[in-house]
Amino acid sequence: MNQNEAKLAAARAAVDLLPALGTLGLGSGSTAKLFVDEVGARVKAGAAYRGVPTSQGTRLQAEALGIPLLGDAEMWDILLCVDGADEVDAQLNLIKGGGGALTREKIVNDASKKNVIIVDESKLSARLGEKWHVPVEVLLFGHEHAKKRLGELGKVSRRMKGDAPFVTDAGNAIYDVAVGPMDDPRVVDRAMRAIPGIVETGLFLGRADVVVVAAASGVRLLERKG
Ligand code: 5RP
Repeated sequence: MNQNEAKLAAARAAVDLLPALGTLGLGSGSTAKLFVDEVGARVKAGAAYRGVPTSQGTRLQAEALGIPLLGDAEMWDILLCVDGADEVDAQLNLIKGGGGALTREKIVNDASKKNVIIVDESKLSARLGEKWHVPVEVLLFGHEHAKKRLGELGKVSRRMKGDAPFVTDAGNAIYDVAVGPMDDPRVVDRAMRAIPGIVETGLFLGRADVVVVAAASGVRLLERKG
């Protein structure tokens, strides 16, 4: 199984965890995109799902598939959110934000009764930070100062899209902070949040209920304890 096949296997396995109907959080990224395609197929076949998209990209995909969407300002009642991740540790803590959608993703995650994360096996690591930097969304006002403060935690680089700085759906910057393997990601998260102008971090700690992992040997479900 190559990585794309593994992503598809994880997305399809998540469909088995869906309620019969109701509101779903729709994640962002290439793995979540495959899941949204599956939801679209079920809506087309008559399933009564509604979605809350975690990015403008996912919104456009869901609209094209005919998935009814709730508005940004509505009160959501999300039964289940399915999203991807960039790195997953043994406690099912995550690094997310490879696509720059981390703030909306965290809001929808928080609003959802249950959160399922879909990944291929390459995303697993013993300690977060072994494979990925931590993406941080930063207000443009004073962002060079925030960058300097983030630099106290690791090497910082501004996320780019081609030759231009990447801009989030909310009009902010993303800084990627290479903090290295973390003994306690909560300490890093707290230090980042203490910097004025930080909107959100890509550390999703204690936020995954189930992680669906697809590997050559098959698909397995990891469930958070406690
Ligand atoms: C976007 C995300 C994605 O879910 C994460 O980057 C994983 O993406 P992919 O499934 O393409 O590897 O957090 O902000």
